[in-house]
Amino acid sequence: MKVNDTAAEIKRLKEQHNAIILAHNYQIDEVQEIADYVGDSFALSKLAASTHADVIVFCGVHFMAESASILSPDKIVLLPDKNAGCPLADTITPEALREKKKDYPEAAVVCYVNSSAEVKAESDICCTSSNAVRIVNSLEENQILFVPDKNLANYVARQTHKEIIPWDGCCITHHRVKVEDIEKVRQYHPDGVIVVHPECRPEVVALADHVGSTSEILRFSRESRAQKIIVGTEMGMLYRLKKESPHKEFYLLSQGLICPNMKMTTLTKIKDALETLEPQIKVKEAVRLAAYGTLERMLQVTAG
Ligand code: 13P
Repeated sequence: MKVNDTAAEIKRLKEQHNAIILAHNYQIDEVQEIADYVGDSFALSKLAASTHADVIVFCGVHFMAESASILSPDKIVLLPDKNAGCPLADTITPEALREKKKDYPEAAVVCYVNSSAEVKAESDICCTSSNAVRIVNSLEENQILFVPDKNLANYVARQTHKEIIPWDGCCITHHRVKVEDIEKVRQYHPDGVIVVHPECRPEVVALADHVGSTSEILRFSRESRAQKIIVGTEMGMLYRLKKESPHKEFYLLSQGLICPNMKMTTLTKIKDALETLEPQIKVKEAVRLAAYGTLERMLQVTAG
């Protein structure tokens, strides 16, 4: 099937099933093009919680579809490729977290949204990269066990008086960016502005001109007067960045900025998922209820 025919078929199936297509900013260009909404983890969670659609097609990775299902249990949530996982989320298990909590009985547990439903169920509150500092500062506890991203934990620690105890996990894609990449770019593009995701190493974050979630990087790039922007996050971002600011130049900070899991979703897989209503993502009710509380508390803190 040609790309246009597949897109037309997706549109037909979407209407037939009263479905909505949510896509993360890292998805491939043609998936972003047919999605109803493209956004960062936080925006997509909010949409999943409030949509009136019967079916949510989540073009992202497993934990994102799982969060949608936790927030909207009555809806069918489809992940077009069930193998699209997140190596960062896989760095922590609920058993290991339970053990760690014993060492810090006074600590509040903040879990990054890049975590499994079971880990969310063991945590007090969730956060995304766009609200992590706000979430941590909203808590009464002074000691925070922050899981599973140590780089985001470090980024938060620099902006709060609370004691942050990081889990030893990281995103292998963002962690690939090195100080040498920044030095090289500064040499070749001295007039460029460097924006990075807080999942990058602390020494990279320290040298960047601006730090933010994927949507914050998009906002910054739209509003900044800079004409040349160097992006330290997954390459899928380039599509929307160029679309929103066609007169600006965008470069990737490092060649390694590709997440293979985010690239697993294709138009054909979306069409197949809508045809068969599979693969569905569901969470066991006891886990879902506990994880729901963790996500809902984040939505409440950020609602005002
Ligand atoms: P955002 O919430 O910034 O979109 O990040 C999601 C993610 O998984 C980054 O690797």
